[in-house]
Amino acid sequence: MNQARTVTLALTGASGMPYGMRLLECLLQSTVQVYLIYSQAAQIVARQEMNLALPARAKEAAALLNERYAPQEGQLRVFGREEWFAPVASGSNPADAMIICPCTMGTLAAVAAGLSDNLIERAADVMLKEKRPLILVPRETPVSAIHLENMLRLSRAGATILPANPGFYHHPASVDALVDFVVARILDQIGVAHSLMSRWGEQAAGSD
Ligand SMILES: Cc1cc2nc3c(=O)[nH]c(=O)nc-3n(C[C@H](O)[C@H](O)[C@H](O)COP(=O)(O)O)c2cc1C
Repeated sequence: MNQARTVTLALTGASGMPYGMRLLECLLQSTVQVYLIYSQAAQIVARQEMNLALPARAKEAAALLNERYAPQEGQLRVFGREEWFAPVASGSNPADAMIICPCTMGTLAAVAAGLSDNLIERAADVMLKEKRPLILVPRETPVSAIHLENMLRLSRAGATILPANPGFYHHPASVDALVDFVVARILDQIGVAHSLMSRWGEQAAGSD
């Protein structure tokens, strides 16, 4: 696809917060404008997995993340879960693409059911109805028949289910390399250039 210029990134409370935060970092290193939304459970998981205290207030979160990643002026906008005046809440102004990473089975089920009960679910619903790319990155394993049915329903509605399943064929030497494997797959989906890992069939930089 053409490179997305605006991307909604939703963090939910599934294990795998390093994927979401690395994705945010990569998006902010590019020219993409990022609309960030996160759930309450995502705040708990961010603290548990990354010792990162994501503030409840969007304004404070924006200040913290602007300091952490130093994006371009205005490149990052953070919205609260009930901020219904956010552009992403309406089909008249959706982002070019939306990624839910990490994605809980709860949020996945809510999107599959079209609940739209918070800004994450509504923004995802908008992407589906406007036929724009929606990528969900679940981590759950094993998965139940309910999870599988919800994923199939979403896939049939046009979403991409991209499980956080890193490969090992590039001989990852660190956890960061495993994280980058998944983030690279996501960036490929939305046409954002990266050099996180060499591609299959191409030599790694500096190798023989
Ligand atoms: C440390 C931690 C890890 C979790 N990991 C997962 C997970 O991998 N997948 C999942 O579906 N739920 C996971 N949960 C449970 C969800 O956070 C919980 O169902 C929550 O209500 C989801 O809300 P949200 O979808 O609004 O973020 C985890 C919770 C905690 C505290």
